[in-house]
Amino acid sequence: MSMVTLSPGLGTVAGGYHSRISGVGGYRPERVVPNSEIVERIDSTDEWIRQRSGIQARHRAAPEESVVDMSVHAARAAIEHAGLEVDAIDAIIVATVTHPYQTPAAAPEVAHRLGLTCMALDISAACAGYCHGIGMASDMVRSGSARHVLVLGVEKLSDFTDYDDRSIAFIFGDGAGAAVVSRADSPGISPTVWGSDGEQRDVIAQVDSWIDVRDDAGLDFPTIKMQGQSVFRWAVWTIAKKAQETLDAAGLTVHDIDAFVPHQANLRIIDSLAKTLGLPEDVVIAKDIVTTANTSAASVPLAMSRMVEEGQLRSGDVVLQIAFGAGLAYAGQVVVMP
Ligand code: UT7
Repeated sequence: MSMVTLSPGLGTVAGGYHSRISGVGGYRPERVVPNSEIVERIDSTDEWIRQRSGIQARHRAAPEESVVDMSVHAARAAIEHAGLEVDAIDAIIVATVTHPYQTPAAAPEVAHRLGLTCMALDISAACAGYCHGIGMASDMVRSGSARHVLVLGVEKLSDFTDYDDRSIAFIFGDGAGAAVVSRADSPGISPTVWGSDGEQRDVIAQVDSWIDVRDDAGLDFPTIKMQGQSVFRWAVWTIAKKAQETLDAAGLTVHDIDAFVPHQANLRIIDSLAKTLGLPEDVVIAKDIVTTANTSAASVPLAMSRMVEEGQLRSGDVVLQIAFGAGLAYAGQVVVMP
């Protein structure tokens, strides 16, 4: 029988701190790809893509530009916005599904590029990854395990997209978004509402496993496939309820929030969620999808950082953010802007 006795002091920090977002930042690759550049290969039109998804253009990373490169740009922007020195960061969470190495994770390399040797790991929750990361970072800060956690959502989806597949070729964009979650004197991040539905694992998925590709010479590099209508239905039905649960968990109503920043998957989904939630007219709604497309894990922080840059979000604003995607998985919380 173990005779280990825990120090009475170990319990004192739990619940002793609050957390908040202290800075946000984004990075969009330089190259802009309008719909007109991709429609021919998929027998589509600019008009169809705009009507069905709201997307007009997306940014695409340069061939040599990696998930790590993009992360470093977004990280520096968020740390600067937080008014911190880089060495104040004591943990890094990178949410991504497009870092092209099974191991090691991207996060330790991001840390190294920033001159850090702190705790650093990747999480895989697809488009919902960033909001999962914010929830985990908030809990780490509140428990006393970290003081400033850098959370990144980053994707280079152009590497995993089949540009001849009309059901997906127009949807994705590349980019990175970041936030710093810091210790605070008052609550700035609500409890996270999160969950999954693995029964629907096939509706958005890498088409073949790495083992399939290794063993079958006839298979191509595995891209991502999506049953768009199934995801659409799940998003407008389930995520609207989860967004309301997120407000409930924060003890707020739609009348208490200044902005709504949902995952930028489809403009029609965004409009539907806003309508079902009954958002008042004066709640600002993120519509970054129009020029950035769907950047998966990067979409919420990219949309948020643009809204800060353009003055649509101000310090102290209360924001409902929620993201959803492959897994299926979702996560949301209410955050106060730095
Ligand atoms: O980020 C992770 C979460 N992802 C999402 O939330 C994505 C959710 N889904 C969507 O955003 C939408 O389902 C899409 C934008 C992907 C597609 O829009 P849709 O309204 O669901 O289109 P659809 O697949 O139902 O296709 C409608 C019609 C079909 O023709 P018929 O059968 O009505 O004659 C398709 O063959 O449009 C046709 N179609 C296209 N036409 C032109 C499908 N893709 C295209 C295309 N261009 N690219």
